Amino acid sequence: MKRDLPNRSFPDGFLWGTATAAHQVEGGNVASDLWLMENLPQSLFAEPSGDACDHYHLYPHDLALLKGLGFGAYRFSIEWARIEPEEGFYSRAALDHYRRMIAQCRALGIVPIVTFHHFTAPLWFTRDGGWTTPKSVSRFARYCETAGRAVGDLILYACTINEANVPMMITAQREADRGARRESPERFAKIARRCGGEAGHWAPFLHCDGRVASLHLIAAHRKGYEALKSAGLTCPVGITLALLDMQAELGGEAIRDAAEHLIQGQFLESTRGDDFVGVQTYTRIRFGPNGHLPPPKDAERTQMGYEFYPEALDATVRTAARVSGCPVLVTENGIGTEDDSRRIAYAKRALEGLHAAIADGVDVRGYIHWSLLDNYEWLEGYRPKFGLVAVDRTTQARRPKSSGYWLGEVARNNAFI
Ligand code: BGC
Repeated sequence: MKRDLPNRSFPDGFLWGTATAAHQVEGGNVASDLWLMENLPQSLFAEPSGDACDHYHLYPHDLALLKGLGFGAYRFSIEWARIEPEEGFYSRAALDHYRRMIAQCRALGIVPIVTFHHFTAPLWFTRDGGWTTPKSVSRFARYCETAGRAVGDLILYACTINEANVPMMITAQREADRGARRESPERFAKIARRCGGEAGHWAPFLHCDGRVASLHLIAAHRKGYEALKSAGLTCPVGITLALLDMQAELGGEAIRDAAEHLIQGQFLESTRGDDFVGVQTYTRIRFGPNGHLPPPKDAERTQMGYEFYPEALDATVRTAARVSGCPVLVTENGIGTEDDSRRIAYAKRALEGLHAAIADGVDVRGYIHWSLLDNYEWLEGYRPKFGLVAVDRTTQARRPKSSGYWLGEVARNNAFI
């Protein structure tokens, strides 16, 4: 049903927030799989995450900052590797830490949107097959149940797994590039051995066989959903997916459709019946009769190398709502850039598209910008700047950027100019 939203306003109760993920901002995530990988000689990672933004200790300050800028929601993850650093040992201290953090959000009137798995996992889990073993499903559900019992009563939105389709996306890309990626199988086997695993068993989320992992990730989401509900959560529970606006030039439709089903459609279909679906989008990809096309020659690129294409948000929220049948929460959208004026330009255009989709009747509950802070961008290290707030990683001083003030104002007004 069409909605009348005058003066670029958003529906009442629309959530405006920012996002982070534990490993990218907390620092010292030493029991995780990636910590070990980052610190190997000749690591695949540009640099180790180290102290990151020390958000583990500075969260009270960061929550106050977020609130002061005008935002009413904060999406962050609780870290499985801290909560269950050895299989079956649940750290009361880590759970209490996250309980304090979520309680602090509630005390400040910030809606806590909590993700249970955001790329990293405990080292023991990844060493023993990660998401490529069927055991992953019950392991994840058990963790959700335990963590859910400890913190679930305070959460207002829960996301089981962040971008559960990403292993499939990376695998599909690797297959399309015929193995032309940074990590050769021999090199990866060597890394696995150095991490105390075997090549066939060592399976980090971002570097595993996506075809096998996807089955378990979908099943783990289902079990995780049930575990959170049985742990007493009454808030909406869903999954988040990385969605690209997948476009076809003439003759590229069939390849596009097949790729879309493989990396997005099957995951969206699996969310049917959930309380919401989290949409995370950054750009588009185009297909021609021979496959994937590069961005147009004159296209602006972000620091990540892909095309500056904020219109992807409009397209992906429509697709997500249509295929899943669920209400949508935009759980990530943003841009890696040193030029903060391009961040404002990006967000403005993305919001124009989002507004049009909502006016056309798409049920979107909120917009969560990635990211609150400049943070650790996985393989790329600290170079890409996604933050609305800059961080001096020597002093840990925070400095809001113009984009932070701009988007905070949009949040306060529930409308943009
Ligand atoms: C991930 C974030 C990441 C962001 C920017 C998303 O795919 O969930 O962890 O930092 O994109 O690349």
